[in-house]
Amino acid sequence: MTKCDVAHSYRAAGVTDRLPIAVLVSGTGTNLQALLDSVHGRDAEIVAVASSVAGAPALERAAAAGVETGVFARAEYPDRGARDRALAGWLAERGVRLVVLAGYMELLGEPFLERFPGAVINVHPSLLPAFPGLGAIEQALAYGVKVFGVTVHFVDAGVDSGPVILQGAVELPDAREPEEVLAALRPLEHELLPRAVALFARGALGRDPHNPRRIILR
Ligand code: GRF
Repeated sequence: MTKCDVAHSYRAAGVTDRLPIAVLVSGTGTNLQALLDSVHGRDAEIVAVASSVAGAPALERAAAAGVETGVFARAEYPDRGARDRALAGWLAERGVRLVVLAGYMELLGEPFLERFPGAVINVHPSLLPAFPGLGAIEQALAYGVKVFGVTVHFVDAGVDSGPVILQGAVELPDAREPEEVLAALRPLEHELLPRAVALFARGALGRDPHNPRRIILR
């Protein structure tokens, strides 16, 4: 089974019409809200929201939507691997088939990724491979770019280095402040992330046999 066939096999098993997904958050949760308002209850069912930060506003959004929440703070575990295993176990117990990182400010290692092969996606506020990691918008402003953007990608063991699913760009030749760029990118994020989740849930994402890094729609 190729990595992107996870949703397909799930469908074939006829478990339910909606793909059970989890959303991992650390902060405000506007991307979580976009998912709750669009794909939740349609192509996918958000069955769990996990935060790396206790008291993150995103948790209130989940609770308001009646979605179960959990907090997995790095400091509560002896190391990252232990946190990864606890988090993966909690999600697996809830039948999660796709993990969506929506403003999740932690790295996930192999112990986590091996539990959800080819089924972890992230939204990042730059046109990858430019400006991976923390402070992407600040990095782009410091570089002096004229075009900013958003990438939704599969997660691998690197930092924002997995195959690209969707990208969107916006021209901001005069931008100076991160807040201004963020405001322009928000609507793109809120459109692209739910769209990528819906495509995954429909089994519509495949790999180009000539270039497995290239995600194709089928
Ligand atoms: C977004 O800009 C996302 O691209 C980045 O973190 C931010 C999360 O925002 N990874 P929110 O918590 O979804 O509002």
